[in-house]
Amino acid sequence: MRAHEAGALHGDIGSRGPAWLRTPVDVNALVPELWPRNVARAADGALTVAGRSVRDLAAEFGTPVYVLDEDDLRSRCRDFRAAFPTEDVYYAGKAFLCRAVVRMIAEEGLHLDVCSGGELATALAAGMPPERIGFHGNNKSVAELSRALDAGVGRIIVDSFQEIDRLTALARERGVRPRVLVRVTVGVEAHTHEFIATAHEDQKFGFSLAGGAAIAAALRILDEDVLELRGLHSHIGSQIFDASGFEVSARRVLALQAQIRDARGVELPELDLGGGFGIAYTTQDDPATPADLAKRLRKIVDGECAAERLAVPHLSIEPGRAIVGPAVFTLYEVGTVKDVDGIRTYVSVDGGMSDNIRTALYDASYSATVASRASVAEPMLARVVGKHCESGDIVVKDEFLPADVQPGDLVAVPGTGAYCRSMASNYNHVPRPPVVAVRDGQARLIVRRETEEDLLALDVG
Ligand SMILES: Cc1ncc(COP(=O)(O)O)c(C=O)c1O
Repeated sequence: MRAHEAGALHGDIGSRGPAWLRTPVDVNALVPELWPRNVARAADGALTVAGRSVRDLAAEFGTPVYVLDEDDLRSRCRDFRAAFPTEDVYYAGKAFLCRAVVRMIAEEGLHLDVCSGGELATALAAGMPPERIGFHGNNKSVAELSRALDAGVGRIIVDSFQEIDRLTALARERGVRPRVLVRVTVGVEAHTHEFIATAHEDQKFGFSLAGGAAIAAALRILDEDVLELRGLHSHIGSQIFDASGFEVSARRVLALQAQIRDARGVELPELDLGGGFGIAYTTQDDPATPADLAKRLRKIVDGECAAERLAVPHLSIEPGRAIVGPAVFTLYEVGTVKDVDGIRTYVSVDGGMSDNIRTALYDASYSATVASRASVAEPMLARVVGKHCESGDIVVKDEFLPADVQPGDLVAVPGTGAYCRSMASNYNHVPRPPVVAVRDGQARLIVRRETEEDLLALDVG
């Protein structure tokens, strides 16, 4: 069992930081790989994004605020489209979804994955063509499935026998033939730099390959002939840098494809290899480009298809983090700086685990910089923490900030586009921050700040 976040983290020595973290030569310098493409430090020392100073953004929208570099997000969509021109790229909306982002990814030619009625409603409200929507989830309700069918979503990724039963009944009632993929649990689990391939698939998602559920599901759908089985789907994890996990999963899933062909004489036309492509949160991370990824995935799929004597299926992928993660930074204001003698300096900002739970939840690492000014002070190892009543409320575990960091400074944390606003909570009744999109010198609010009135509006007792 993992130790309590605060306990484990308090255990290490503060003054030196982790081995990978180097003292910067210039504490004001930005590491370009960690920041949205249109972020720079201006002559006055403040960061700008697409020509707008963070000082102006803080004055106009308040802090904390998620700042989206819209052209960065769009350029990442285009990079994926260019790298996968004949494949389909589904943006995984769970990473971050709002109407403006749905429109951006639709305009850039991407498809969209949703995994709940709420995400589906957001996609439809923004005008996403339903045929470009895929619907995921291990426990889709009858109401959600009905809505997806009535909207005409392009594909539903089925996850259990009960869901097949429900969807079959709903399709019969409506006289429709929904397109489905079978989500296969391939026994590969990949996170960050490592992957493990296990015989046993102990998780809630998908149909087990090793246990025989996956082939049974596929054959049942083919035999009943109510749903249109388009292909198999596998998603192996998150923040993956190493293609070998995809290699093992593609091998296993294509072997299943061959078994289905041998059993029923049907070659499924599609294959989805999921998402999980890693991004750079800190200087430790060295992600592949979409072009590299495309080359590697195609090589893997082509090789396995040749080995199984299968026609190469139409491929799709589902990047979430790799599209939106690097396009956003969170801007906070420093409220308190506390030097805990001989251990470390705690820099408290006006948000925390309610706007970024990943550090506490996954032990994630982030970077940070003082964003409102340049400093001539020496670099000082600091920990950026939030304002919540939880000692595990850490935003950035270890970062060098200038030793003169002080209340009123703005601190920016890059790489917060994915799984931060979408996982945000109201812990301690802290209202959730807004999202501001900046493009060509113009900033526009795309998700407004939650207010205390919003919180009280739900509280009807
Ligand atoms: C089925 C599926 N596809 C895609 C993704 C997106 O993963 P990422 O944002 O790491 O690319 C997830 C994430 O959990 C997922 O469960």
